[in-house]
Amino acid sequence: MTNKIFTVAILGVGSRGGNAYGRIINRMKDKFQIVALCDPRVGRLESFGEEFGVPVDMRFTDEGEFMRERRADALLIATYDCDHKRQCIRAFQLGYKVLLEKSITTSLEECKELMAAQRELSGEAAVCHVLRYSPIYQKAEELLRGGAVGRLVTIEAYEPVGYWHQAHSFVRGNARSTAGASPMILAKCCHDLDLICSFAGAECVSASSMGGLSFFTEENAPENTAERCTDCRLLDECPYSAKRLYIERWKQNGSPSDEWPTNMVVAAPVTEEKLMEAIADGQYGRCVFRCDNDAVDHQTVLMEFKNGVKATLTMTAFTDERGRCYKFHGTYGQITVTDKEIKITRYGEATEYVSVDSLVDKSLAHGGGDVGLINSFYSMLCGESSRTDLESSYEGYLIGFAAERSRLSGGKLVSVHDS
Ligand SMILES: NC(=O)c1ccc[n+]([C@@H]2O[C@H](COP(=O)([O-])OP(=O)(O)OC[C@H]3O[C@@H](n4cnc5c(N)ncnc54)[C@H](O)[C@@H]3O)[C@@H](O)[C@H]2O)c1
Repeated sequence: MTNKIFTVAILGVGSRGGNAYGRIINRMKDKFQIVALCDPRVGRLESFGEEFGVPVDMRFTDEGEFMRERRADALLIATYDCDHKRQCIRAFQLGYKVLLEKSITTSLEECKELMAAQRELSGEAAVCHVLRYSPIYQKAEELLRGGAVGRLVTIEAYEPVGYWHQAHSFVRGNARSTAGASPMILAKCCHDLDLICSFAGAECVSASSMGGLSFFTEENAPENTAERCTDCRLLDECPYSAKRLYIERWKQNGSPSDEWPTNMVVAAPVTEEKLMEAIADGQYGRCVFRCDNDAVDHQTVLMEFKNGVKATLTMTAFTDERGRCYKFHGTYGQITVTDKEIKITRYGEATEYVSVDSLVDKSLAHGGGDVGLINSFYSMLCGESSRTDLESSYEGYLIGFAAERSRLSGGKLVSVHDS
């Protein structure tokens, strides 16, 4: 039997819409055909238009014109968080089935509006919470649900942002300001909050949170340092120096011509000359202590679920390593999940290891989650329900917004659902 082939339109052909999902969708010729694109950046629009074989008259630079009518069976929305609510509601009105990037919205009010519109318009959307499709986390969930370590009592989640990633995205980069954007606990950790909800297996009752911006501020600038790294006496010493982060790290990684994050600093093909020029006068060459940033650099969230499960999530910039670590403590054993392995210890027995290599092709993005998400979106188009539909994703956002309210009130315990 042959598959039904669904037509897909993409709104926003950037890093996620073009490079990540667009390319995966384009490879699955027996399931999808990309028929329309919209992005105000003409260079990206044209190059992905060519790559995906989209006719010239179906490449739009203007959202209003693109959204005037329905262009395909499904719409992938991979634009900025602040635009998601408006675009998703319009997509429901046009009758699209939607694949929506996280964060679904930037505020609780918008989140509620989107949920109401979805009910009213009978809209269907899957959210790109890719980690729920990663075989590693699926295996962990299977072990927990199967009672491998008894009854789950606590979850400890750790999200090490990485000192250079913090400096790139949340100090110098586009996610540095939270005005009109999601709070960082959602921007960086909505995947974690979503995973924690699914692992806990119940509604979250209350949350409290503490955190802030403790280091990347003017008071912490070492004496006699400059506004820009290239003018600074610490150019070769400071671990956050743009020269060290963008040129030395890039060389250590084999000078890739088109790889994140240097391809965000200059357009590919990336060269040393272009990088040097960009850090001499662009946004990524600013001193990390003198940027207009307000995103937090550390935050911890404490959560209680209806079934008694308690969870903590710690996100911190101050790490060398990146890669999540989850610990699950059960009444008869514990499970530790990292990006390398799952370790299962039943109390009093020998520890078992499940290597990630046995579960997933390591070359796949997000531990196989990106491909898993697109396959599951295909099933949704065929009529199956999605494990990350809007309703099931909503809970994680409620926790994130509650955590931010708590953080701003100095860590007060807040109710997750009554607001
Ligand atoms: N699921 C994940 O793991 C993951 C990872 C990174 C980013 N994201 C999310 O993906 C989304 C996109 O992020 P990105 O990293 O791809 O950014 P990006 O800047 O690379 O791409 C966004 C694209 O949207 C285009 N755009 C902006 N406004 C538009 C409009 N009105 N109509 C059409 N196109 C428009 C931009 O020109 C750009 O090309 C964000 O919501 C972000 O939070 C998700």
